[in-house]
Amino acid sequence: MSTPQTVQHYTARADEYAHHLGSLEATHPADRELIGRWASGVGGRIIDLGCGPGHWAAFLHQQGASVRGIDPVERFIDIAQRAHPEVEYDVGSVMELADGAANGIMAWYSLIHLEPTEMEPALRRCRSALVPGGSLLIGFFDGPAVEAFDHAVTTAHFWPVHELSALLETVGFSILETVQRHDEGSRPHAAIIAALP
Ligand SMILES: C[S@@+](CC[C@H](N)C(=O)[O-])C[C@H]1O[C@@H](n2cnc3c(N)ncnc32)[C@H](O)[C@@H]1O
Repeated sequence: MSTPQTVQHYTARADEYAHHLGSLEATHPADRELIGRWASGVGGRIIDLGCGPGHWAAFLHQQGASVRGIDPVERFIDIAQRAHPEVEYDVGSVMELADGAANGIMAWYSLIHLEPTEMEPALRRCRSALVPGGSLLIGFFDGPAVEAFDHAVTTAHFWPVHELSALLETVGFSILETVQRHDEGSRPHAAIIAALP
């Protein structure tokens, strides 16, 4: 999981990614609202899983959250540490999350590169990494079917909201909120907030 190919492709383009997308100005105001609102309800440690250049981790820190950024791409962690030293980081991937590590996990476009069969084990690992009552926020590309496409960096998959929601329920989460946004000129966006009992 986090195939060597994904890591290799992001390593090659990490600086470019950080330059174009690694700032809050490059994010959608509705995403900032959702992420800020979600974080304020978590009340404890948050992991920004697949933090990339660290701008969302820094945003969460600014909102008063206790946040740790995790990413399998060392170059991203270097960039994030330099740009946002107030946050702590680890190199790692979803399957390396420790049991009970957090009250909240945000996987903002970081599970999109998993093979479809890898999604359920990844969600199970997120479940184990959360304390009881913990919350998971996932951002992803919305689509009518689980389908691969040529993402600018490396292959990614669309997920229908109802299919990802069903998988989350299978592994023990309850769905609290779903969001879909289809803006002209960008790929359809979706987010799910799910919680453990
Ligand atoms: C599209 S970028 C999103 C980065 C950041 N969350 C953002 O919103 O800008 C995908 C990120 O997921 C990370 N990633 C890829 N596979 C992962 C895995 N198995 N576990 C955790 N992160 C992963 C990549 O290194 C990359 O930083």
